[in-house]
Amino acid sequence: MAEKFHILVTRRIPNAALNILKERCHVEQWDNDDVMPSKQLVEGVKGKDGIFCLLTDKIDANLLDIAGKQLQVVSTMSVGVDHIDLAACKERAIKVGYTPNILTSATAELTVGLLLATSRRIVEGVQAVKEGTWGTWKGLWMCGPTLEDSTVGFFGLGRIGQTVIERLRPFGVKSFIFKTSNKKTKEFEDIIQARGVGFEELLQKSDFLISCCALTPATTHIFNKVAFQKMKSTSIFINIARGGVVQQDDLIEALQKKEIRAAGIDVTTPEPLPVDSPLLKLDNCVVTPHIGSATETTRTNMAVLAANNLINGLNDMEMEAPYML
Ligand code: DGY
Repeated sequence: MAEKFHILVTRRIPNAALNILKERCHVEQWDNDDVMPSKQLVEGVKGKDGIFCLLTDKIDANLLDIAGKQLQVVSTMSVGVDHIDLAACKERAIKVGYTPNILTSATAELTVGLLLATSRRIVEGVQAVKEGTWGTWKGLWMCGPTLEDSTVGFFGLGRIGQTVIERLRPFGVKSFIFKTSNKKTKEFEDIIQARGVGFEELLQKSDFLISCCALTPATTHIFNKVAFQKMKSTSIFINIARGGVVQQDDLIEALQKKEIRAAGIDVTTPEPLPVDSPLLKLDNCVVTPHIGSATETTRTNMAVLAANNLINGLNDMEMEAPYML
């Protein structure tokens, strides 16, 4: 029988995935819902052939070197790969697997949830009910904007953004715009029925602006003071990408000064967001705890895909979802 590979699993994961791994590998697992402390992570990777990680594990060049030359695969249970030093993996011929597609629908759904929660002031309304400030039915109370006839803008129009468009069509949105990139053609615009625009125009025209891009050096802090000041004072900002695309202090200021109307964010810096963060004191901000992909089916599917990626990568078979380095 072929010798089993030694792998590290950095977190508690669904059994469906753990069983796949245990059948084929010697598994060392951090059997905990919290992040593996760096001391344990450093010890745990030593001598491993593969690492099954999450988006909260920093996989940098130093860690890869500590793991050793036998390390062949890093498989992350996430679509985002900004926690992995991809260049360092490439240099060391380490394969990287990730989990695109299967979380698209769940994340698009949460995006719609944030759009509605912020525009229709759902969280604020629930809070008023609980605090007893509801009073009688008032004509002008708890009103907000509507998606109908609005312009919805996207910074990043990949799988998730495109699915958000599909989910939003029945709401009667007037137009969809997105920040153009060289990869997006006129044909793409026609198919998706959205118009590519420059960043300035995206900021100026969007009634709802959704950030759903990858975090890269180019997108880091792209939503900053200057950007927020160019947005409409009536606009709503949604971030389901990574906290790092936003200069968070600038967002807080923009919300406090009402330079923009509201924000709905599923990602923050840091995560978890400290409970004394000024963001949590604002009525016009809804913060969810990075739960874009958190449906039971999606999380299981992500874990199983990441497990299969790891097994295939170790056995020199094509991964179901390789990240192209
Ligand atoms: C990811 O996978 O990168 C999301 O942020 C969490 O599911």
